[in-house]
Amino acid sequence: MSFSRITLLTITIAASATLLIAAAPASTPADTTTTTVEGPDAPVLGADGKAVYMKKCKKCHGADGKAQTKMGKKYEMDPIPGKMSKDKVLKVIKNGKANTKMKAFKEKLSAEEIDAVAAFVMKL
Ligand code: HEC
Repeated sequence: MSFSRITLLTITIAASATLLIAAAPASTPADTTTTTVEGPDAPVLGADGKAVYMKKCKKCHGADGKAQTKMGKKYEMDPIPGKMSKDKVLKVIKNGKANTKMKAFKEKLSAEEIDAVAAFVMKL
């Protein structure tokens, strides 16, 4: 093996090692309160009402429930929960609101997710 081939080999090995180190996931401490849900493939986190809301409701109702969104303004939506009781909120989420873009979520979310998101809405 010529000198230059050895040099090349060494450089290649060193470069691969650097890549491997760079690609290794940085170890982050477990964070049980994480509610980040971005992108279509992000998992819906069962009882994490905030995560469910940000994924399924924010688009229309806005992050703060005040519906200052394109959709919210177009349909002149009222802020949620407004003066609604939690029971009423639960019903609307499960069954939707007739003649509006508010669709029923009972087939789309688990009972646990509906409960959690209703609880989250009540805190908005
Ligand atoms: C496609 C847009 C859209 C999405 C997504 C959506 N909503 Fe709605 N929502 C509406 C519209 C439109 C209304 C009717 C607004 C009104 O009458 O002021 C409504 C009404 C409501 C109401 C009753 C408000 C009232 O004044 O009667 C609640 C509670 C509610 N939505 C919660 C949710 C929750 C929780 C989610 C997510 C699981 C969700 N919505 C997802 C569009 C949407």
